[in-house]
Amino acid sequence: MTASREHFSSRLGFILAAAGSAVGIGNLVGFPVNAAKNGGGAFLLMYALFVFFICLPVMIAEMAVGRKTQKEPVGAYKSLSGDSKFWGAAGFLGVLTPFMIAVFYMVITVWIFGYIVMILTGNLDALTQPDYFTNFVKDGYLFGYLVAVAIIVNIILVAGVKDGIERAAKILMPALLVMLLMMVVFVLTLDNAFAGVKFFLIPDVSKITPSVVNSALSQAFFSLSLGMGILITYGSYITRKTDIAGSAKLVALTDTAVAFTAGLMILPAIFSFDPNVNPDELSNSGVSLIFVLLPKIFFALESSIGYAGASAIAVFFFTLVFFAAITSLVSIIEVPVSYLVTEKSHSRKKALLTLLMTAGVLTVFALVSYGMVDFFSNFTSYAGQTKPFFDVVVDVFYDTILPLNGFLLCIFVSYRWKKHQLSKELSEGNESYAGSMMEKYINFSLSTFVPAIVLFIFINTVATKFF
Ligand code: PHE
Repeated sequence: MTASREHFSSRLGFILAAAGSAVGIGNLVGFPVNAAKNGGGAFLLMYALFVFFICLPVMIAEMAVGRKTQKEPVGAYKSLSGDSKFWGAAGFLGVLTPFMIAVFYMVITVWIFGYIVMILTGNLDALTQPDYFTNFVKDGYLFGYLVAVAIIVNIILVAGVKDGIERAAKILMPALLVMLLMMVVFVLTLDNAFAGVKFFLIPDVSKITPSVVNSALSQAFFSLSLGMGILITYGSYITRKTDIAGSAKLVALTDTAVAFTAGLMILPAIFSFDPNVNPDELSNSGVSLIFVLLPKIFFALESSIGYAGASAIAVFFFTLVFFAAITSLVSIIEVPVSYLVTEKSHSRKKALLTLLMTAGVLTVFALVSYGMVDFFSNFTSYAGQTKPFFDVVVDVFYDTILPLNGFLLCIFVSYRWKKHQLSKELSEGNESYAGSMMEKYINFSLSTFVPAIVLFIFINTVATKFF
């Protein structure tokens, strides 16, 4: 253990930072669309059950491994397995994955930043033109926006855990929550908004198919930032007095509440713009929703609140998404930063510089892979499709390796580190944990059905995505 390891200053700071990681573009845009398409209230209920009964134990286990070892994934796996080569490799995957996910998440954040700049400079109308987004992703200005976002992330991360990550979360998370509520209130006053609310909440059980169940679980898993080494790393920054299980519950609750509230913002907005909308036709990823459909919805407000008013609402919305993206981005880049600091004895500054030169280059490759540079735009082919570099990174790391990491973690904690050690760790900071129902449930689920389910998702994704 490094004597000088920094810690979050309070439990609240830790919860906000972890919630900042969990609340991201996935909650604000991905979840509402998924829920709308896949059974509304029925999806919501299933999602909430998955969050609390399947994902929460994994979240708690990640935090416990981090706090016990005071290390990031590589150091954590190694030190709890007596330096096993296999588990060291699993830990390495736990650092490589966030490194690669950061690459494409950064690109989306850069696009959002670019949209904010466009709207602030009076160009909301331009964003509504057909093919605008297709051309925007080839715009040379993106390099400038990339530099700007990189500087913001760097300023937060170089300041460290307490003064950087925690302070940013303490400012951005409350701001985000207030902005989200204000947006909901505004959207609900629009004509036809309640048709969207109805659509979001009324359960349609007939839409629930095995693939919907699979996507609800994947959405829950990703939304809580599991399998990315983030919660191991953040767990290593909490003190032994912190109640891990109780904190994790609050993080999961916040994340789910934000996803739910985002549904009350996005769907009524869509219905008020087009009362005859067919949500089945919305794209799954949410990317075309934020960058293509939403600008049109905001622009349509011009007739009631004028161009400046419509632009103000649009900037407000994109800033909200930007805040969510920044706190997620910071958390994911902290994993390789922590790896370089803990395992390679870099200073934070040097670690960030190393990442800028490695992940930064890959980010540029992803940025130019939507039409700017042919080589990266047609990077490789599988399952009969030619894919840009950006999509390959998403398919491999986000969709596929994440569940594998989740599976490895469950096996590691239950069978290598051992359940009684986990219980011991979780009892610190929570005297009533030992012997509780929660303890029994966590130990049982992590050693049986949770790894089985995430392994199934991994195999299913490999089989459907790549062949
Ligand atoms: N939980 C995030 C979301 O819902 C996912 C994420 C976290 C992605 C951290 C990247 C980094 O969007």
